[in-house]
This record gives sequence, C-alpha cells and structure tokens, in this order.
Amino acid sequence: MLTGKTALITGGSSGIGLATAQRMVEYGAKVAITGQNMDRLLEAASALGTGVIAIQADVSVQADMQRVRHQIEQVFGGLNILFANAGLAYGTPLATTDEAMIDRLLGVNVKGVYFTLQALAPVMPKGSSIILNTSWLNQIGAPGRSLLSASKAAVRSFARTLSAELLDQQIRVNAVSPGSVITPLHRQPGQTEEQFADYVARTGRQVPIGRMAEADEIAEAVCFLASDHSRYMLGAEMVVDGGRAEL
Ligand SMILES: NC(=O)c1ccc[n+]([C@@H]2O[C@H](COP(=O)([O-])OP(=O)(O)OC[C@H]3O[C@@H](n4cnc5c(N)ncnc54)[C@H](OP(=O)(O)O)[C@@H]3O)[C@@H](O)[C@H]2O)c1
Repeated sequence: MLTGKTALITGGSSGIGLATAQRMVEYGAKVAITGQNMDRLLEAASALGTGVIAIQADVSVQADMQRVRHQIEQVFGGLNILFANAGLAYGTPLATTDEAMIDRLLGVNVKGVYFTLQALAPVMPKGSSIILNTSWLNQIGAPGRSLLSASKAAVRSFARTLSAELLDQQIRVNAVSPGSVITPLHRQPGQTEEQFADYVARTGRQVPIGRMAEADEIAEAVCFLASDHSRYMLGAEMVVDGGRAEL
C-alpha cells in the first residue's frame, strides 16, 4: 500500500506513533521517527528493523524541526508522508494551572504541529499526504481538560486551514481523531501493572464499543489516510473512537 513512499512520524518512539511506524514499514514505506528521548528512539528503531531512521528532536523547537528537514532531505531526498503525531496530555484545572503548564501543553500540541508542517511541507512533492493527530476531546466539554481540548481543536482546525494553504502544492492534509487508546500516555508515575489494567478496564466501560483502542487500530486509519486510497479526502477528520464522541 505504501511501497516506495518515504514517511516521517513525529513521536514515533511510543504508542500510536510507534504502531504506525510498524504498519508503514510492513506496507513498504521507508520510515523515519522522531522523539526527544534518544534511548527510547534507538530501541524503537531497532525493533522496527533495519533502515528505520531515528532523529532526536523536540517538535516545540522550530530550529529542531528545521534540522529534521535537512536530515530528511539528506537521507530520503524528499518526503511523501508526514504524520504529525507527537503530543502531550495532562489536566489543567482553571484554579491550579500555571503559565509553564500552559506553555508546555500548547507548545508541544499546537506550536509543535505547526513547526512540523512548516519545516517539512517544502520537501514534500505533489501527491503527498499529511496526517495530524487530533483527539475525540476536540469537541468535548470535560472538566480539567480545557487546554488539552483546545489544543486538539486547534489541530483539527489546522487540517482545514493548512489543507487550503497547501492546495497549490497538491499536498493533502487530514486528521485522525483517536478515542482512548492504550498507550504510555495514560500511565501515571508509580502506577503498578494491576492499577493500569484496572484503569484500562474502567475507561473501556465508558466507551460505547466497550473497550479502549489498541494503538494499531489507529495506525491502520493513519495508513489509509497516508495512502492513495484516501486520495479524495481533504481537510477531513477520520474519527476512530469506538463511538466515544459520537454516540
Ligand atoms: N492515547 C490516547 O488515548 C490518545 C487519544 C487521542 C489522541 N492521542 C494523541 O496521539 C498522539 C500520540 O499519543 P500516544 O498516546 O501514542 O502517546 P505516547 O505513547 O506518550 O507517545 C508520545 C510520543 O510523542 C513523543 N513526544 C512527546 N513530546 C514530544 C516533543 N516535545 N517533541 C517530540 N516528540 C515528543 C514521545 O517521545 P519523547 O517523550 O521521547 O519525546 C513519544 O514518542 C498525541 O498527540 C496524543 O494527544 C492519544
């Protein structure tokens, strides 16, 4: 499905990004992944197999993403698929949230996606596909989630506005909107495996389909959006949430 394509996945060392890297390799793409933690990146790259490129970079730092662009140009020549996936999630209750918490969340989830597209779009040829990772929370009013939801609503909006901006280059931008997915994002410091399993079961009961998603279930949707099978999709949101935001 992706044979001969080159792909970059930000936050490809864990969770949804790593599962997507695995699928894209299987579907024949040449893949590069980014993340901040070098040990985790190298471990992920070696698990993914030979030829996968690991680039340490912070998406919220504009210069880091420009450096990623240079490395991609050197190694791949250009880029056909970009999955802007790196993101953070934490609560920001109105009463207790300080400026540093706001800057970090919006810096990674909003500025990070912007810097990623700003750096990489110029090396993407006509017919390329960009996928943004938003969230079912982009339209939900949950207490303590104001900034996370706002950041993901901004990402949803980018799929529309940046699609329009990149139309002349014939680059499609779409978003994937996962529900609750079993990834390290949901782990709390000091949590035991039993406590985590309990959290996964409890959260699953809040989802109409009856369980949390596996990361690979999101990865499959991303690969569809990355491929020419989705060639008529533009500025759209593909919801993969077990009915969480819809039912
Ligand atoms: N899991 C869910 O239920 C869920 C639901 C809806 C949407 N999402 C979205 O899916 C995306 C991936 O989440 P996940 O659940 O797969 O989380 P995860 O397992 O925690 O993975 C996050 C990835 O992003 C990287 N990352 C974090 N901050 C970064 C930064 N500043 N610069 C570069 N890389 C950074 C992490 O690596 P380093 O820490 O080494 O940088 C890691 O590779 C996020 O955008 C998240 O909001 C997740």
